[in-house]
Amino acid sequence: MDYGIQGRVALVTASSKGLGKACALGLAREGASVALCARGEAELERTAKEIRATTGAEVFWQRADMASAGDIERLIAATREHFGRIDILVANAGGPPPGQFLDFTDEDWLAALNLNLMSTIRLIRGVLPQMQAQKWGRIVAITSVTVKQPFANLILSNVARAGVVTLAKTLSDQLAKDNVLINTVCPGIILTDRVRQLMQNVARTQGIDEAQALRDYVAPVPMGRPGQPAEFAELVVFLCSERCSYLTGTVTQIDGGLVRSYF
Ligand SMILES: NC(=O)c1ccc[n+]([C@@H]2O[C@H](COP(=O)([O-])OP(=O)(O)OC[C@H]3O[C@@H](n4cnc5c(N)ncnc54)[C@H](OP(=O)(O)O)[C@@H]3O)[C@@H](O)[C@H]2O)c1
Repeated sequence: MDYGIQGRVALVTASSKGLGKACALGLAREGASVALCARGEAELERTAKEIRATTGAEVFWQRADMASAGDIERLIAATREHFGRIDILVANAGGPPPGQFLDFTDEDWLAALNLNLMSTIRLIRGVLPQMQAQKWGRIVAITSVTVKQPFANLILSNVARAGVVTLAKTLSDQLAKDNVLINTVCPGIILTDRVRQLMQNVARTQGIDEAQALRDYVAPVPMGRPGQPAEFAELVVFLCSERCSYLTGTVTQIDGGLVRSYF
């Protein structure tokens, strides 16, 4: 299938590893030029080289922390200066720490909202005027299945990401007339370094091996396994494409069947 995004410019944030990297690679494979960011420069540079070598795409990268309004502003300006425009935005960031309600202070809550909700607001605000002017734009916000089914020890994430869903849905209504489509995707258990790290911690505290920790973790998944980042990227690339022409305001889990709700 030709996704129709040859020559488009995609900004994918938090993308030196994991889900963001897989999305950037998927978009580059379809002929888009991609801009990457993360906090660590060494990994970013490695990823940029890898995507260039694998796909031949033009890749730009800049260090940026999604918790910093200034970094986001500079990232958008530098991407626009480099490529001339931004047609596609995949808004991604790290996740807030786990913990229980009474563990967290006001500062913790504000940090979580800043990292996950405010970063999405700031990114969309930065790219939107040009997408509206050119009557073409695709925005995908990466959240989590916790927006459909909260996880007890991820209260900061549950709450901050719910704000992203309502933001995207509200905007989808207003932006549809300009052919700027905005959708939210919700990863379940996708085997990235983040999940590997989590499994190492579980294995250490429970005195089991990592493979057993992962088997236990995916036990509630009907497909019986974690997803791969490339499988996750398939959905995101479609939502960022020309082929995705009548789909906006959706909230789609990609989770091997983990979420049991109808919607
Ligand atoms: N994988 C899953 O199963 C899963 C499920 C549900 C939700 N999620 C969410 O999806 C997002 C990505 O997770 P992942 O599994 O891809 O994690 P990962 O493998 O740890 O990769 C995270 C990427 O984001 C970058 N990053 C982290 N914090 C950042 C920040 N403040 N500003 C800019 N870049 C940042 C990291 O680079 P630096 O550290 O160098 O900045 C890295 O490139 C997270 O919010 C996570 O909570 C993941």
